[in-house]
Amino acid sequence: MNNSIISRIGLLGLGAIGKRVYEALSTRYLPNARFAAIDPHGHASDFVRTHQIQLCSDTEDLARWKPDLVIECAGHDAVATSVPVLLKNGISVVIASIGALAEQPLRQHLEAAAETGAAKLILVSGAIGGLDALRSARTAGLDSVVYVGRKPPRAWLGSPAEERFDLEAIKEATTIFRGTAAEASVKFPKNANVTAAVALSGLGFDATQVELIADPAVDRNVHEVEAAGPFGSINVRLANNPLPDNPRTSWLAALSIEEAVSKQLLNVIF
Ligand SMILES: NC(=O)c1ccc[n+]([C@@H]2O[C@H](COP(=O)([O-])OP(=O)(O)OC[C@H]3O[C@@H](n4cnc5c(N)ncnc54)[C@H](O)[C@@H]3O)[C@@H](O)[C@H]2O)c1
Repeated sequence: MNNSIISRIGLLGLGAIGKRVYEALSTRYLPNARFAAIDPHGHASDFVRTHQIQLCSDTEDLARWKPDLVIECAGHDAVATSVPVLLKNGISVVIASIGALAEQPLRQHLEAAAETGAAKLILVSGAIGGLDALRSARTAGLDSVVYVGRKPPRAWLGSPAEERFDLEAIKEATTIFRGTAAEASVKFPKNANVTAAVALSGLGFDATQVELIADPAVDRNVHEVEAAGPFGSINVRLANNPLPDNPRTSWLAALSIEEAVSKQLLNVIF
């Protein structure tokens, strides 16, 4: 794929990430491209009206519009329902909601759909980093991969941690979950995207260890990846600022989509 053959972009999800990615692509990377989107809940109707975006009624309608590439930033349901349809129709899809791949049957379904349509399923690194090193290192074997997620205690409200801890009263860093990536993705779905990105880049969902920490000393979402093997060791730490439009979403997640799309436009890929 090169710049000249990406002229039609489909968007699944025009929330905080989708709007930002649209702005970046339409002004910076693909100023001559045309855009289409589906907006099943009508959340983005004002945005669609005020921008040059074709509104499609559903996924099949979007597929008939024949996008060169579709970008999913809508949520796990969209990965399960819309993305297989697009792949089977030969349309490559960049997905942000990578946590959906924690379910092995869905993963297999998507792989089969991509094969049927000779299309690509492109996963983004999202809010996490260092995955290139992890993927390189696993070729020589990995002894351990640990993902540590650290958030201010209040940020864990609404998670199962609330049942076991008085989150408002926590005064020092407290581990609220320790287990496998498979368990974490079920119990802490809001962390599922980063957990899945680490698991898929390294040792898989059952062998990747996850530790989640309520830490009053941090004011941002902090992600750490520690890995060891014959290659040596990796220790990566990210402290993410949120997107102005959605305090739950890391700005870096939107930037990683822009990077993934811009990579498709290059002749030299790094
Ligand atoms: N990989 C990562 O690290 C990472 C980080 C943050 C978010 N994400 C993923 O990106 C998604 C979007 O994040 P956001 O902050 O923009 O969320 P958001 O809530 O601001 O926006 C999501 C938008 O998608 C729309 N939508 C929901 N289901 C849809 C569907 N089936 N088809 C089309 N549109 C649909 C909603 O109406 C909403 O407008 C999240 O749900 C999450 O799964 C991934």
